[in-house]
Amino acid sequence: MAFSLFSLLIFSISLLHHPLSSNAALPKTALFRSELISEPTPSKDVPPTTFFEVTKPIELPRTKPCSYLVLQHDFGYTYGKPPVLANYTPPANCPSQGFAKIVLEWKATCKGRQFDRIFAVWLGGVELFRSCTAEPRATGIVWTVKKDITRYHSLLMTNQTLAVYLGNLIDGTYTGVYHVNITIHFYPADQERYSSYDMPDSDNLVKGYHSGADLILPISRNFPLNDGLWFEIENSTDVELKEFKIPQNAYRAVLEVYVSFHENDEFWYGNLPNEYITANNLTGTPGNGPFREVVVSLDGVVIGAVWPFTVIYTGGVNPLLWRPISAIGSFNLPSYDIEITPLLGSILDGNTHEFGFSVTNALNVWYIDANLHIWLDDKSVKTKGKLMTHNSLPPLVSLVSNFTGLNGKFFTTVSRSISSSGWVQSSHGKITTKSSQAFNYTNLMVMGKSGNLQIVNQKIDFNDSVVAKMPSNSVLSYKSFKRFPFYLYSDNLDLGGGSYNSVANVTLGFNEKRVKASDSGVSVSSLWNLQNGQGSMIVKGNLVVSGLGSTQQSYQYDSSKFCYFRNVSSSNYTILYDKDGSACSKRTESHLGYGLGKWWPFPARSAFLASDPHHVNDFITMDPMKSPMIMVFNIGPQLPLAST
Ligand SMILES: *[C@@H]1O[C@H](CO)[C@@H](O)[C@H](O)[C@H]1NC(C)=O
Ligand SMILES: *[C@@H]1O[C@H](CO)[C@@H](O)[C@H](O)[C@H]1NC(C)=O
Ligand SMILES: *[C@@H]1O[C@H](CO)[C@@H](O)[C@H](O)[C@H]1NC(C)=O
Ligand SMILES: *[C@@H]1O[C@H](CO)[C@@H](O)[C@H](O)[C@H]1NC(C)=O
Ligand SMILES: *[C@@H]1O[C@H](CO)[C@@H](O)[C@H](O)[C@H]1NC(C)=O
Ligand SMILES: *[C@@H]1O[C@H](CO)[C@@H](O)[C@H](O)[C@H]1NC(C)=O
Ligand SMILES: *[C@@H]1O[C@H](CO)[C@@H](O)[C@H](O)[C@H]1NC(C)=O
Ligand SMILES: *[C@@H]1O[C@H](CO)[C@@H](O)[C@H](O)[C@H]1NC(C)=O
Ligand SMILES: *[C@@H]1O[C@H](CO)[C@@H](O)[C@H](O)[C@H]1NC(C)=O
Ligand SMILES: *[C@@H]1O[C@H](CO)[C@@H](O)[C@H](O)[C@H]1NC(C)=O
Repeated sequence: MAFSLFSLLIFSISLLHHPLSSNAALPKTALFRSELISEPTPSKDVPPTTFFEVTKPIELPRTKPCSYLVLQHDFGYTYGKPPVLANYTPPANCPSQGFAKIVLEWKATCKGRQFDRIFAVWLGGVELFRSCTAEPRATGIVWTVKKDITRYHSLLMTNQTLAVYLGNLIDGTYTGVYHVNITIHFYPADQERYSSYDMPDSDNLVKGYHSGADLILPISRNFPLNDGLWFEIENSTDVELKEFKIPQNAYRAVLEVYVSFHENDEFWYGNLPNEYITANNLTGTPGNGPFREVVVSLDGVVIGAVWPFTVIYTGGVNPLLWRPISAIGSFNLPSYDIEITPLLGSILDGNTHEFGFSVTNALNVWYIDANLHIWLDDKSVKTKGKLMTHNSLPPLVSLVSNFTGLNGKFFTTVSRSISSSGWVQSSHGKITTKSSQAFNYTNLMVMGKSGNLQIVNQKIDFNDSVVAKMPSNSVLSYKSFKRFPFYLYSDNLDLGGGSYNSVANVTLGFNEKRVKASDSGVSVSSLWNLQNGQGSMIVKGNLVVSGLGSTQQSYQYDSSKFCYFRNVSSSNYTILYDKDGSACSKRTESHLGYGLGKWWPFPARSAFLASDPHHVNDFITMDPMKSPMIMVFNIGPQLPLAST
């Protein structure tokens, strides 16, 4: 029993002790582990496999980009060493200097055996990109990630130091060196009247509400460092602070927060309540329950929160699931914006102020930093402002537990809202802004088969809104409605002789609707991005003896400007089908207005007692791909999948 529980929990939920869980952040205490992610020895001349994350193409102007290779580096043994640095200068030889779009391209190859590694790219301490490496195959892999970094335009037009931290280990077992090129593509604007990227749109509104910031301050750790520039949050009481000072003529500010979770919290959404751990006398099982939130404070007052998307790194749950289709967000982790314009009045005094980051219920370790985007009034040296209202109550948490021994159910619900309003007086006049966040969380966890079975059914709702009242009395609002469904079914069967069979089904969704409204109209965009994965493996000791991962994904993005869909499926490294196109979904066409009730894919539901394990996935009814779930239990001859 103890063994099976250990293998279940540690297998699918934890990282520190299990061979196959993701190692995106390497535990410092276990630098040299002998566990393997293994594969057949390659036959000759097999081309590298291309791994990818499904996402929409970046909308580009029809102009030829000026492209610069800003870093070429081989990440061998880089763990615990300073970030790789390069001098960055803005494009000098580009015929046009009015850039409509700026794209960062990460391209990497790797061959051999290696864990997934978290990494990030900073420019002048401002984080541009956070990502996770793909896990290589013996035959080699290649992958490319493109990210629209136009919002960092003002920073990219100045000389800076580029920093990349990717903590990798090379030894006799882990042979994969990551060969990386980072290129930045600058696309000139394609219409002469749009001389630069920040031309106003038809709204005739203050520039700060439709273009990149004039100044971006890093809210990250300073050099010198033998690590990333992120802060490391190690427990629930840990608060990491950063002092900053803003120019006194700011009139808008947005804090962009980057977040990733590792080691004991890599699979936080499956962490067990402490009462279960204590009652069963478990040790080494990550606890604190399954709820986490990143809390941001300004001068000690909570001003915003992030309830993060459940990114699964490329080695997570079952590494075979993410080859070649990577998990949502794994190659380009989302960042989260918190509008702090209502609070500007409190920090325009020319003095030093302090942001703080903490994580409710955190276990070691969370990597967090932020960028402060600031818009400056070019017609005055001082603006002024005042915070009018501020509301932030602690999260309302409810946990209902019903367990006997190692079997039972846990239903956790949490909700919270944070809002502030205030005005700023600048040459644009007096603009009053209200910023609000509202969150809702439910997590139903079922433990069965004496701890060998775990089912997690989680849903995060994350609403943001910014409403700005202009001096003309016109009102501009930006609203975002996010829903992150997550489902995990994980069953381990002890096969004896130190082997076990692990079955894991995962559903992962990132859905977001954005609504922008102004006097000139309403524009809506929506994203539905859903993955289903089914994995099975036979694990013996530390080795994957055999296994199979199958993944299906459907991606639909709709907006008034363009639509994009992709429907792709893979099994055993092979793409089974792959269709994409620019058709808008029927569903969204009919709901492009408000009508969120219809837009929500999931029925509201709060039925703890109705949580029969066979029905728990009722939360996830948006399941457009009931495609064949292929399962292979290859218990036959033990394939020495390990190669060297
Ligand atoms: C990086 O760029 C160099 C020079 O263009 C090229 O030889 C190399 O193959 C590139 N590597 C990757 C991983 O794209
Ligand atoms: C930026 O760096 C380039 C190359 O080193 C240098 O020629 C230029 O003068 C620098 N610009 C500024 C504003 O420091
Ligand atoms: C939490 O982490 C901080 C930072 O590492 C440490 O100083 C503190 O002792 C820890 N607290 C607990 C209760 O472990
Ligand atoms: C709890 O764990 C301790 C330490 O491993 C062990 O001595 C004890 O027997 C365990 N008790 C139960 C009830 O399992
Ligand atoms: C707790 O679980 C047991 C076993 O499944 C069940 O018989 C009992 O009714 C449950 N109690 C509550 C309060 O839900
Ligand atoms: C988010 O907004 C939608 C649409 O207005 C609403 O139905 C839902 O209750 C909101 N969620 C939260 C957590 O406030
Ligand atoms: C997976 O593909 C390999 C060849 O690429 C094949 O040898 C193996 O049998 C396949 N596994 C399953 C379970 O289909
Ligand atoms: C939050 O979720 C609970 C449980 O599903 C539900 O009762 C409540 O209405 C939700 N609140 C919002 C604002 O969506
Ligand atoms: C994706 O393609 C599969 C296979 O062609 C099909 O069964 C499924 O309905 C498609 N899903 C969507 C959302 O288009
Ligand atoms: C998990 O996946 C397997 C294999 O595809 C399937 O047989 C099983 O019904 C799935 N279980 C759940 C609860 O989704």
